[in-house]
Amino acid sequence: MQARRLTLKHFRNISEIVFDFHPRFNILVGQNAQGKTNIIESLYFLAFGRSFRVSDFRGLIQWSQNEAIVRLHIETPLGEEERSAQLNNEKKRMFKNGKGASPNQFASMPLVLFAPEEILLLKDSPETRRAYIDSLLSKWIPHYSKVLSDYKRALVQRNKLLKEENISIAQKRDQMVFWEKPLLDNGTILIQERTEWVKRLNRSITAYYNTIVGTEQKKAEFVYKPNVTPEDFATLQEERREEELERASTLVGPHRDDFKGVLNGDPIVAFGSQGEMRTFTLAMKLSEIQFFQEVLGRDPIFLLDDVVSELDENRSAFFFSFLKKYKGQIFATATSPTLFPKGVLDSFSAWHMEKGCSKPFTF
Ligand SMILES: Nc1ncnc2c1ncn2[C@@H]1O[C@H](COP(=O)(O)OP(=O)(O)O)[C@@H](O)[C@H]1O
Ligand SMILES: [Mg+2]
Repeated sequence: MQARRLTLKHFRNISEIVFDFHPRFNILVGQNAQGKTNIIESLYFLAFGRSFRVSDFRGLIQWSQNEAIVRLHIETPLGEEERSAQLNNEKKRMFKNGKGASPNQFASMPLVLFAPEEILLLKDSPETRRAYIDSLLSKWIPHYSKVLSDYKRALVQRNKLLKEENISIAQKRDQMVFWEKPLLDNGTILIQERTEWVKRLNRSITAYYNTIVGTEQKKAEFVYKPNVTPEDFATLQEERREEELERASTLVGPHRDDFKGVLNGDPIVAFGSQGEMRTFTLAMKLSEIQFFQEVLGRDPIFLLDDVVSELDENRSAFFFSFLKKYKGQIFATATSPTLFPKGVLDSFSAWHMEKGCSKPFTF
């Protein structure tokens, strides 16, 4: 799968731009704050229907403009596809071959992002980790996003009811039960899929982790901490109703799950070094790539935002040999082309970014 031509209009600091990409390696070079990450973000947006930097898509529209347009021609195993997004202050609309589409129908664009902020996956709130996992699983597992949105809808309704001030407790008791079945049914599927995914992830994560460090071997795992197991779900729903009434919030279910990076049995956030956390996130990203290869039989587009300068010697040696062998399309940003060792890139296209404009260049 390949991204061919990207067109942006009024996206972030980019007024108008067109890129014709290289099938293998694309490099964006430039000083800070010129628009390199904005390009990466636009590609990510077309794959996932959301940004990895802001939760409100309005932030993507160029200041002083009313509408942003992102359009990409891609080559898939099923033929050419055009996908686009149109953002204005009211809504975000996504299109596939000119027809309205939901981001869930965008599975045909597998993509993996590796950026320095990704370390936040380990450090941030459980919510960040759930959002990450949900967007991945929505892409791999056909029914996941439907189950998730049904679950969330029931959750919103039940919480709304619990917070309602104009109904009696007796009425609330009566009505809150109604939403428990969709929470139980859909929630159980979410827990099962998350469990499966973590199992799969852990098959490759330790291997990658140790290949990257090379020396001291460690057991690296992503541990799933479900709020409730499928076996206890129904019982706990019943047992905690009174507490839920008191706290005006639904307390049982996978919307309160968490995940933890663990190294030799200890939580990496508490005991790991910065370097170990970086290696861990890189191992996770490489595992993500492997899933797409196994599940969809395709090499995802690999986006590398500003990561080359952050790698130490061990990791960069491994990483560059990985990139050299990688068959999929790669996009990398850096402040200087000298960060890419000669020999990694045999064939590529490069652009220099300045103030939201691009110029092709060679080095
Ligand atoms: N909505 C927006 N409208 C106009 N400019 C924006 C918008 N959002 C961000 N910017 C500008 O984009 C630039 C940052 O671009 P970015 O791609 O992150 O830079 P870098 O080249 O360092 O990756 C900054 O100058 C910022 O002010
Ligand atoms: Mg950047």
